[in-house]
Amino acid sequence: MLVASNRGPVSYEVREDGSLHARRGGGGLVSGLSAIGPDAGALWVCSALNDGDREAVRRGIGERGVRMLDIPADVHADAYNGIANSVLWFVHHMLYQTPLEPVFDAEFRRQWASYERYNRAFAEALAQEAAPGAAVLVQDYHLTLVPGMLRALRPDLRIGHFSHTPWAPADYFRLLPGDVAEQILRGMLGADRLGFLTRRWADAFVSCCDALVGGPGSTEIGVHGLGADADFLRRRAHEPDVDERMAALREEIGTAPDGRARRTIVRVDRTELSKNIVRGLLAYRQLLADHPEWRERVVHVAFAYPSRQDLAVYRDYTAEVRRVAERINEEYGTDTWRPVVLHVKDDFARSLAAYRLADVALVNPVRDGMNLVAKEVPVVSDEGCALVLSREAGAYEELGEDALCVNPYDVLETARALHEALSLSPGERAERCKRLVAAATALPPARWFTDQLAALTS
Ligand code: G6P
Repeated sequence: MLVASNRGPVSYEVREDGSLHARRGGGGLVSGLSAIGPDAGALWVCSALNDGDREAVRRGIGERGVRMLDIPADVHADAYNGIANSVLWFVHHMLYQTPLEPVFDAEFRRQWASYERYNRAFAEALAQEAAPGAAVLVQDYHLTLVPGMLRALRPDLRIGHFSHTPWAPADYFRLLPGDVAEQILRGMLGADRLGFLTRRWADAFVSCCDALVGGPGSTEIGVHGLGADADFLRRRAHEPDVDERMAALREEIGTAPDGRARRTIVRVDRTELSKNIVRGLLAYRQLLADHPEWRERVVHVAFAYPSRQDLAVYRDYTAEVRRVAERINEEYGTDTWRPVVLHVKDDFARSLAAYRLADVALVNPVRDGMNLVAKEVPVVSDEGCALVLSREAGAYEELGEDALCVNPYDVLETARALHEALSLSPGERAERCKRLVAAATALPPARWFTDQLAALTS
């Protein structure tokens, strides 16, 4: 069995003394796939992402069961930043809006050629590594051409592809140049089986195929809604480093004037346009404006970890998140109360500490494949949290009944939902949280993976 993805389970950093330091990769894709573990006998093919990774490949350093491809830096930058993150991510999350609209020019064509080269490098490595008749699970929008290319090289393989993002509706997908849109669909249809996180994204893919390439043909299409890894999270969330972070976070949050612990509204995201962090902050500001009774009694704990900072729109967005958080603190803060506690330095243990302290989890993406945070916070929260959830997150299909659901663009509705979430009686909150946890853990990563493998090889 082989797995292929852009980001692998580890990434390396060159230290000042020249040594290499390994770090766990982040994001929903890596969290889901990490459940396979090195003992499953799988080979995970991924790309070198930075100089540290390229150095590790050169020195022959690596983890068991992982093969990192030394793709030239410029080819990777074009494929990853240019096509995958600036075009395909924007299309599937429907993020293009004036004045941020795509321009398909000569530079785009150069990047597209790199994307093809990058996909070919994966297809060739997989063709070389795979035993006869092996199963290959290709991941995400970075590698849409791999199934078709690999099928041509190795017709004996069972090829699957899984999308961790939403899929764009046909009218939106069609904004890609016709030949590119067609190449992507045909590339994916080279697989025996395609997987999506929700029925909604699977249907959108089929509608794109119907509109552009005469239907999905014989490729099978399945839905696998990745769930939270409750055992791992609960164990990890009670280790000493998380306890330490909790104590520090409690200090930062402080106590209300009546001496009781302040309520917390928690969010944890990559600083990502689709996560809608700014509107979340504006909704919190609206809550403070409309409900003075919450002032001094609630804190918005917002962790927004830098992501894709090579791209100017992401850097600008990160700056905007900071500005809006500061403005709220200036406007409403007092000597004893900081309304927003914002952290931007990635720290998994601190995220878990925030999960444990959460009274309310705020998950309001404008569009999201699944959103694992929506599933993780209820599982980890010490007291059982309420969930304010966007109807545009894939998780809505599974958690919608017990969450307080919002239109992510509607700041007033989101503010009302925050108020409602904070006002739930303890009994009601506990009941809802229990049902959220049941739904969130229905398909843990290990089963999510083995189900797909079984469906592909049966
Ligand atoms: C999230 C998305 C995945 C994507 C990953 C990549 O987890 O859900 O679809 O593959 O981000 O993030 P990266 O940091 O590698 O660009």
